[in-house]
Amino acid sequence: MAKLEKSYRHSSVGGRKLSPETQMMGYGYDPQLSEGSVKCPIFLTSTFVFRTAEEGKAFFQLAYGLREAQPSEEPGLIYSRINNPDLQILEERLTIWDGAEAGLAFASGMAAISTTLLTFLRPGDVIVHSEPVYGGTEYLVEHILPQFGIAHEPFGAYPGAPTLETAIERGRAKGRVGVIFVETPANPTNDLVDIAACAERAKAFASADGSHPLVVVDNTFLGPLWQHPIACGADLVVYSLTKYVGGHSDLVAGACLGRETLIDRIRATRTILGAISDPHTGWLLLRSMETLKLRMTSAMKNARYVAEFLADHPKVRKVHYLGFLQEGEPQHAIYHRQCRAPGSTFSFEVNGGEAEAYRLLNHLKLARLAVSLGGTETLMQHPATMTHSDVPEERLTTMGVTPAMLRISVGIENPEDIIADLGQALDAV
Ligand SMILES: Cc1ncc(COP(=O)(O)O)c(C=O)c1O
Repeated sequence: MAKLEKSYRHSSVGGRKLSPETQMMGYGYDPQLSEGSVKCPIFLTSTFVFRTAEEGKAFFQLAYGLREAQPSEEPGLIYSRINNPDLQILEERLTIWDGAEAGLAFASGMAAISTTLLTFLRPGDVIVHSEPVYGGTEYLVEHILPQFGIAHEPFGAYPGAPTLETAIERGRAKGRVGVIFVETPANPTNDLVDIAACAERAKAFASADGSHPLVVVDNTFLGPLWQHPIACGADLVVYSLTKYVGGHSDLVAGACLGRETLIDRIRATRTILGAISDPHTGWLLLRSMETLKLRMTSAMKNARYVAEFLADHPKVRKVHYLGFLQEGEPQHAIYHRQCRAPGSTFSFEVNGGEAEAYRLLNHLKLARLAVSLGGTETLMQHPATMTHSDVPEERLTTMGVTPAMLRISVGIENPEDIIADLGQALDAV
């Protein structure tokens, strides 16, 4: 951002490296640029005034990659489809949790995913992806990317799923594997994919110029607190910020983080597709990020109580909670390598089928019957007929998304209250 003092990017104090939660309060914001306001105002403006024509020219040259930045030169503010102070500060703060060089804010998680994929995939390319993935991502790879000549090959952790090796082999038979896209834990089954193994395989296919399939990880379920894909070798991390980062079910936004060279290319696509977020949403996200650790920690602790209650309940067949993985299972080993906590969104199956699952949902009094996740309130939904209803039934069954499955995003209410609500709803099943 223009004129932003480096002193507002403290990463250590008195020789102590600052923790991400501390940096969420002020990193990247200079109060002197905003009348001393402690909090970053909302810059509700579509365009920015240049002091001189020469300054405008210099800003555009940098924004459009027509010249290299001078040492310590910051990009100038031009137009809110290109950049805006609330979003630039947000982008800088987002990079802290994942240890990324650079980041971009988007209008939604799907805008982040589709802009990222369209930046790096070309006609004739193949995207190798884990499954299940969020229904919107599934639609993108199944129905939209093929219209641009981009094929896809799935792999997964469910019984009988093609392995990563098989998917890469099949993909290479069709064309250049441009991206390995991973959603881990998977929505809604919580299946885990080994990010480091994907990164290792991707590097094995480096071409003469050193480029290799990019490993892109959707870190919405556990990030940014409980899983750090870049540290595991991923090239890019994407988020639906609508979920834990926004955290109050009152906004829709997304992000992509990674190496500066890759982010610069995605930024150019974002500018032209017009997929950036807006200043008000950026401001809401800055506010949310101050309490991110508190909220995610509280929800994670609540989720364990809720999962244990469900696992002990006679009307519950199975609970797909990461905290229940048993030593010796391959998924347990992946969990220990790449996850710091089990998070607070998981699925479970009731005895019976859709009718029993619906009965539970229709009797909830405290938890809300709604899609989405990661908010302060507990939300529940039926993946097979809601978030994943685009996926053909037989594929859902193969992936373990059964009609009896419900997904719960545990909130930060008193856990005994959540359990009381689930108990009385289960009585009706
Ligand atoms: C794992 C995952 N990725 C991406 C998305 C898409 O995010 P958005 O709704 O912000 O576009 C979702 C939405 O539910 C999701 O659960």
